[in-house]
Amino acid sequence: MKPFTYISQPSRVVFGAGSVARLPQEVEKLGAKRALVLSTPGRSADVQRIAATLGDRFAGLFDKAVRHVPIEVAEDARRAAKAANADCCVVVGGGSTIGLGKAIALSAGLPVLAVPTTYSGSEMTWTQGFTEGGRKRTQVDPKMLPKTVIYDPELTLGLPAAISAASGMNAIAHCVEALYAKEANPIVSLIAEEGIRALAVSLPVIVRNPRDMEARGEALYGAWLAGTCLNTGIALHHKLCHTLGGTWNLPHAETHAIVLPHAVRYNRDAAPEAMARIARALGGKDAAGGLYDLEVKLGLKMKLSDLGVPEGDLARAAKIALEAPYPNPAPITFEGVLALLKRAHAGVRPD
Ligand SMILES: NC(=O)c1ccc[n+]([C@@H]2O[C@H](COP(=O)([O-])OP(=O)(O)OC[C@H]3O[C@@H](n4cnc5c(N)ncnc54)[C@H](O)[C@@H]3O)[C@@H](O)[C@H]2O)c1
Repeated sequence: MKPFTYISQPSRVVFGAGSVARLPQEVEKLGAKRALVLSTPGRSADVQRIAATLGDRFAGLFDKAVRHVPIEVAEDARRAAKAANADCCVVVGGGSTIGLGKAIALSAGLPVLAVPTTYSGSEMTWTQGFTEGGRKRTQVDPKMLPKTVIYDPELTLGLPAAISAASGMNAIAHCVEALYAKEANPIVSLIAEEGIRALAVSLPVIVRNPRDMEARGEALYGAWLAGTCLNTGIALHHKLCHTLGGTWNLPHAETHAIVLPHAVRYNRDAAPEAMARIARALGGKDAAGGLYDLEVKLGLKMKLSDLGVPEGDLARAAKIALEAPYPNPAPITFEGVLALLKRAHAGVRPD
């Protein structure tokens, strides 16, 4: 067995249908008395109802979270936390809202309690992406890891089928890259394979019936596993998605879904063990093709052109992605990445 380093994560996880009812006790357990609650504008009314259960511990709602955490919004949120005299931050939402909570954790030192309502997995990581001057950058600090995470599948019942499918593929991408990341290790590989399996079986059921509680529970469990994989490391696929998402302001999860089969194909010959695990978790023989077929079944957009990326911009995307590449099993070349992006742009099935 190859030598490896494994880091376990010091977070408390409360999982189960209806578990959001435990929010007040969990805030109390953190020793906090004034929670600033964060949400996106669209989820504000629902989140307000959850916040109301905090009673005296509710210090205010900041409902301006938007995707890719623009640095100006993070600064506004930090000011709101200060004005509310908050000693903790409760984030209810997807990766965008959780990312904003992490920004407050870093700048104001507040502990974060996360209640995820998508499958982004951000609640399990100590990394955070933000945008400044049109570029997406990431920062890493253990202070940003949420102290407590409440996974309540009931809160995901209203997540539309299309967002669920894309967000679920974003989670699968975390598992996939953990299998061949530089810091890959046998513990995380077990988690990653199980995460892919759980999501691959539950997402098609959710797309048929978004209110299937059993499938919602299975998908959220898969998303949790996927999130824990993220700290192990990421590779070319995530780099491309960060580049495309940050520079062209693309929807995060949909971009992941489109790029993933092509990034996996790119790494096929350099990471055979990972490919075997991905294929096995999907119940097939071909990792890249299996991911593509799953996405077709989920009715996802399959082309970067569907997201409005002009073909003429692909060379620029490849160039940016190569500026500070993440470690990747297959050597990263401009020509190789450009060819990958062209296939993703056209949405052709990886051979
Ligand atoms: N740092 C990390 O480890 C990490 C990991 C994954 C993603 N991210 C970041 O997270 C962001 C993307 O997160 P996302 O894909 O969860 O998208 P998101 O948080 O932007 O949510 C997508 C949309 O779904 C809505 N929504 C969320 N939950 C809902 C629900 N239950 N019902 C109905 N609507 C709901 C939101 O209001 C939003 O409009 C990106 O900025 C990405 O960089 C970070």
